[in-house]
Amino acid sequence: MATVTFENVTKRFDDTVAVDELTLEISDGEFLVLVGPSGCGKSTALRMLAGLEETTSGRILIGDRVVNNLAPGARDVAMVFQSYALYPHMTVYDNLAFGLRNVRTPKDEINRRVSKAAEVLDMTELIKRKPKQLSGGQRQRVALGRAIVRQPKAFLMDEPLSNLDAALRVNTRAEILKLQRDLKVTTVYVTHDQVEAMTMGDRIAVMKQGVLQQAGTPEQLYTKPTNVFVARFIGSPAMNLVPAGFVKGAGTGGQLAGFRPEHVVLGGGNGDAAYFQATVEVVEYLGDEQLVHLAAGDEKLLAKLPVEDRVPTGVEQRFSIPRDKLHLFDAETELAVRA
Ligand SMILES: Nc1ncnc2c1ncn2[C@@H]1O[C@H](COP(=O)(O)OP(=O)(O)OP(=O)(O)O)[C@@H](O)[C@H]1O
Ligand SMILES: [Mg+2]
Repeated sequence: MATVTFENVTKRFDDTVAVDELTLEISDGEFLVLVGPSGCGKSTALRMLAGLEETTSGRILIGDRVVNNLAPGARDVAMVFQSYALYPHMTVYDNLAFGLRNVRTPKDEINRRVSKAAEVLDMTELIKRKPKQLSGGQRQRVALGRAIVRQPKAFLMDEPLSNLDAALRVNTRAEILKLQRDLKVTTVYVTHDQVEAMTMGDRIAVMKQGVLQQAGTPEQLYTKPTNVFVARFIGSPAMNLVPAGFVKGAGTGGQLAGFRPEHVVLGGGNGDAAYFQATVEVVEYLGDEQLVHLAAGDEKLLAKLPVEDRVPTGVEQRFSIPRDKLHLFDAETELAVRA
């Protein structure tokens, strides 16, 4: 096991700066999720760590060791990709054993590690099957198993769940988490899905166009986003964002006010809450809650309200936001303004 450190790491492809001065320290045993929209440099950062891509500048360390010039095989990390590419003619056992045989691991050691991995992944009864006799989720577990048997210093995972359907994703997500908690192996996990990031990460690092925007716990990113980008990226549905003047009792000119749909309250606005007037356009009934689409002038807003709230469409009403749930941003720099 080991820490992983990026120090001012940059990767340039011709004119594209894929990763721009990335500085990030991942603790021993930590589950760090790298998240951001398509093309923001997540895979490139991970591939540099794995040694599959050279860095243009900066240093990458695994433990105390600078690995920039180490071959991938010498870095002692195991990568799990989106496409799991199992050997179709080999059994699960042989797929798991393959990498170990390649480095001439003794037979009983292979047997011990493969059996352990199969047990951890709850695949013992599948060990004699071939990949085509497995479901997508089971195949992805074999791919994870191949990473586990190597007993690496770190797991590097690049969107390992994106080939699975929704239900299987949720299950496999939980399995990966449990596995990582049991094995306590430092893990860097790449996804573009903020829900996956929020539910899995000890910490989350949000990237945009090659630049790290913020790194913190899911709670820190949700409650104290550092800028408009992180505020809108984390949380679903996304945070409402309006000129501060729109919300009575919010910020000043030159500021933007942000508030999450789940923090909007019907009525209120007396005492210690900011408020605004808006007309209900559409109501989406979600069973336990209702998603209420609001309009006020040019502004479109969302509120997530209890189903008991009466919100007839076409009617203008007052909505409020508890003061401590209100975020203010500088309209020009888009950085958070802290009280
Ligand atoms: N081999 C390459 N040659 C040239 N440009 C590249 C290469 N690999 C990546 N890029 C560019 O670098 C940027 C970052 O790509 P990267 O694959 O790291 O993004 P990503 O965050 O993983 O995106 P996605 O969520 O779509 O997988 C993109 O603009 C991409 O086009
Ligand atoms: Mg990618």
